[in-house]
Amino acid sequence: MDQMSKSLKPWALVTGAGGFIGHHLVSYLRANGYRVRGVDIKLPEYCSTDADEFLLLDLRELRNCQTCTARMDLVYHLAADMGGIGYITASHAGIAYNNSLMNLYMLEASRRNDVGRFLFSSSACVYPHGLQISPDVTPLREEDAFPAQPEEGYGLEKLYAEKLCQYYMEDYGLYTRVVRFHNVYGPLGTYDGGREKAPAAMCRKVACAQSPGAIEVWGDGRQTRSFMYIDDCVEGIHRIMRSDYRNPLNLGTDELVSVDELAEIVIEVSGKKIALVHDLTKPQGVRGRNSDNTRLRSVLRWEPQITLRKGIIPTYSWIAAQTENATPGATVAAE
Ligand SMILES: NC(=O)c1ccc[n+]([C@@H]2O[C@H](COP(=O)([O-])OP(=O)(O)OC[C@H]3O[C@@H](n4cnc5c(N)ncnc54)[C@H](O)[C@@H]3O)[C@@H](O)[C@H]2O)c1
Repeated sequence: MDQMSKSLKPWALVTGAGGFIGHHLVSYLRANGYRVRGVDIKLPEYCSTDADEFLLLDLRELRNCQTCTARMDLVYHLAADMGGIGYITASHAGIAYNNSLMNLYMLEASRRNDVGRFLFSSSACVYPHGLQISPDVTPLREEDAFPAQPEEGYGLEKLYAEKLCQYYMEDYGLYTRVVRFHNVYGPLGTYDGGREKAPAAMCRKVACAQSPGAIEVWGDGRQTRSFMYIDDCVEGIHRIMRSDYRNPLNLGTDELVSVDELAEIVIEVSGKKIALVHDLTKPQGVRGRNSDNTRLRSVLRWEPQITLRKGIIPTYSWIAAQTENATPGATVAAE
C-alpha cells in the first residue's frame, strides 16, 4: 500500500458476494471500517448489497479475476459452484471444472495485482471418508486431511485449491489463509431450488407443513453434523484473515447433533406438531462429521459461540416468512 492508501480505509474484495456467506461478510466488513467491492455472477437474491462497489463478472475468466482484484488490499474468495448433498453428489464434473478455474485464476490474478492477503473458503468436505463412517465421529483435526480421501468432486477440488494456496505462498510470497467451514446456516441463505443445505431445507419443510403433519428426512436421520450460525462464521473469517496463522483452519462448532435432532429443534422452534418420515433412498453424505476446534481456539483465542437452538430461531423465522405462500412437498438434505 502507498502512503496515500494507508491513510484511507483498506479495500476488501469479497467474491461470491451475491451468495449467502459473501453477502453477510460484505455487511460485516463495511460495519467494521473496510471499503468493500463485491463480485458475483448474480446480485444477492433476497436483499440489496451493502458493498461500495458490486461487479457482475464470471470468475471462470482470468481477465475478470484481474479486473476485480485490481487495487485490493484483501481478497476473501468465497465464490463457488456449490450446494447441499443432493447437488454436490450429482454434479462432480461441473463443480470441479467451475471451481478449479475460479480458484486458479483468483490466486493468479491476486498475485499479479499484489494483493496483501488472500483467504480461501474451503470445506469440511476435504476430510477423508474413512474417518467419517460412524455417527459417533471423532472430531476432525486439520492434520487429518492427509492421507487424502475427500468428498468426490467438491471436496477434492477444495483440497487441490488449499494446496494451490500453499504453493502460491511458498513460491510467490502471496499471503494466503485457508478456512474449512463446517455447515453454515442463517437468514438470507438458499432455502429451495435444490442447492439448499440441511438446516435451510429443514426450516422450509417444517414451515410449509401442516400441523399436525409430517416431513421427509433424507437417510435414517442418525447421520451427525455440527452447524455454525452465520454471525459466528463472518466473525471467524475476519479473525482468521487478521491472524498470522497460514495453514488450513477449521471454522465450525463442535456441537454434534444428528439430523433428526436438527429436525426436532426446528419443529420445537416452529411450535408445530410434526412427525419425521425417513427416505433411505436419498443421499445422506458421510455418516458423521464434527469439527475439532483445538487449533482454532489456540490460534484465535476464540471459537463460534452461538448454539444451534439459538441460531435456528432467526433462521426459521426468516424462512417461514419467505415461504408463507408455498406448498409442502420438497425434501430435506444433509451435507
Ligand atoms: N454454506 C456452507 O455451509 C459452506 C460449507 C463449506 C464451505 N462453504 C464454502 O463457502 C463459500 C460460500 O458458500 P455459500 O454458502 O455462501 O454459497 P452460495 O452458493 O450462497 O454462494 C456462492 C456464490 O458464488 C457465486 N458464483 C458461482 N459461480 C461463479 C462464477 N463463475 N463467477 C462468479 N461468482 C460465482 C454464486 O453465484 C454464489 O452467489 C463457498 O466457497 C463454499 O464452497 C460453504
